[in-house]
Amino acid sequence: MLPTNSFARIRPMGITQPTSDEQTNHWNAITANAWADAQDMLDQMMKGLEDLLVDGVAAGSGRRVLDVGCGTGGTTLAVARRLGAEGHCVGADVSEPMIAAARARAERDGIPAHFILADAQTHPFERASVDTIISRFGVMFFNDPVQAFANLRRAATDDATLHVIAWRSAAENPFMTTGLREAAPLLPNLPALPADGPGQFSFADPQRVAAILDASGWADVDLQPIDVRCTLPEPELIGFVQQLGPVGLALQGKDERTRGQVIEAVRPAFDRFVHGTEVRFTAACWMVSAQASGQPPTAG
Ligand SMILES: C[S@@+](CC[C@H](N)C(=O)[O-])C[C@H]1O[C@@H](n2cnc3c(N)ncnc32)[C@H](O)[C@@H]1O
Repeated sequence: MLPTNSFARIRPMGITQPTSDEQTNHWNAITANAWADAQDMLDQMMKGLEDLLVDGVAAGSGRRVLDVGCGTGGTTLAVARRLGAEGHCVGADVSEPMIAAARARAERDGIPAHFILADAQTHPFERASVDTIISRFGVMFFNDPVQAFANLRRAATDDATLHVIAWRSAAENPFMTTGLREAAPLLPNLPALPADGPGQFSFADPQRVAAILDASGWADVDLQPIDVRCTLPEPELIGFVQQLGPVGLALQGKDERTRGQVIEAVRPAFDRFVHGTEVRFTAACWMVSAQASGQPPTAG
C-alpha cells in the first residue's frame, strides 16, 4: 500500500481548480474516446460494482432511475434490463462521445434506456421526476458538488433514494496510483488527484461527502466501505495505462520514444497485480446512500 502522502510528492505545484468547463472539455476530449473504445473491457472490469448498484433496484418495479455520469451506459443499460417495461432508466453525462456510444449500445441491444447529454450540476431536470439516483464513479467531478447534489435533489421525488459509488483514498487504491507514481519522473506535468476538488479521489473523505449531501437536501446519509475485486485480461494492461487516466492523458502527443520509456518504467510496478493471464486489484470504494426528505432546496 502506498504511504498516505505519496501524492504530495508527485503533485505539481500551482494547480488551479478545474472549472466545470474544464471538466466538460476533459470528458469530451481524448479521455472520452479512450473510454468509449475500452467500454467492454471497463464494464467487465467493474462488473462487481455494477452488480451492487443493479441489485439495489427492485426487478420489474416501476422505478424511475437516473444514472449520473453514466459514461458509455453500462450501468444504465443493466438497470434498464432489470426494470423491464415497468420502469424507466435515464443516463446523463457531459460527454458527447460517451453518450453517443451509450445510445448506440442501447439501440444495438434493444434496451429501452434513454441517454441525455447533460451537466448534472446545472441541467434543468424535470422536478420530482426520478425516485432512484445511482452512479458508478460519475459524481466526483463537479466543481460545485453542493449545487450538483441540490440539483439532483430537485429532480428527485420526496421519497427518493440515492446510491452512488465513489473511490476511497488514493492510498487505499494502489492499482489506480501505480502508473502515476512510476511515470512521474518522466512526465513532470502529470495532473494532481486532489482530495478536495473535482477528481477521482474527491469523495475519499467521508465527512466531506456527508457534509456535501447534508447541505444539498439529502438525509440519512450513510457511507459503507466496499472492497470489490476487479479483473482485466493481462494483454489489456498496457492499453489501460497508456490510454486511460492521468498517465494516458499525459502521454497524448508524446513521441514514440517517450511513450516506450514510460511504459518500460511503469509496467514492472504492476507485476504484483498480475496473476497469469489476469490482472486483479481491489477497488476500495464508498457506497454512499441517502434519502430525499423535506423540501428540496430552491435553485440558485
Ligand atoms: C469515471 S467516468 C464513469 C463512467 C460510468 N459511470 C462508468 O462507470 O463507466 C466519469 C463520468 O462522469 C461524467 N461526468 C463528469 N462530470 C459530469 C457532470 N457534471 N455531469 C454529468 N456527467 C459528468 C464523465 O463524462 C464520465 O463519463
